[in-house]
Amino acid sequence: MAHELPPLPYDYSALEPTIDEQTMHIHHDKHHAAYVTNLNKTLESAPALQGKSLEDLLANLSAVPDGIRQAVINNGGGVFNHTLFWEFMAPKAGGEPTGEVATAINAAFGNFAAFKDKLSNAGMTRFGSGWAWLVFDKDGKLAITSTANQDSPISIGQKALLGVDVWEHAYYLKYQNRRADYLAAWWNVVNWAEVAARYARFK
Ligand SMILES: [Fe+2]
Repeated sequence: MAHELPPLPYDYSALEPTIDEQTMHIHHDKHHAAYVTNLNKTLESAPALQGKSLEDLLANLSAVPDGIRQAVINNGGGVFNHTLFWEFMAPKAGGEPTGEVATAINAAFGNFAAFKDKLSNAGMTRFGSGWAWLVFDKDGKLAITSTANQDSPISIGQKALLGVDVWEHAYYLKYQNRRADYLAAWWNVVNWAEVAARYARFK
């Protein structure tokens, strides 16, 4: 079965003014869509992989033939990471986490401000294109990480609780080269309810 582009879980303009409507259209309808198309094209040569879920493919890259592994990492990761990214944001969101996940973040990073700084810094210092993440690492500990290109935490045994796209395509129309401004504003749309749900599922 072919992989499909999931619809945005909210309107294209729902994250204004933090993320503008035009960026959301291009990001979802062009970039995310292209990863889906290219993943399906890549898998044409590997019928045995076509029935596997995206999670299964990315979590078991050694089962992917050498000749298409990088294309699966790039395009499968592109599909997977962006599907998560839309869920990590929501209209009328932002603020601070509450409950168990807040306690865990404070325990791991000191306090919420220190956590924000550390994740923002991971995004700022990712050279070129990639992502910054809050994950459960392989040992089940909360960690802040960064991945290049469309590499995904799931491929190195990590479970993503939150992540931010720092590819220029995520912010250039509105913020141009000012990645720091984009990252500072992005906290206004973080969907802490989703982070809490993922924390409860993975802990
Ligand atoms: Fe992106």
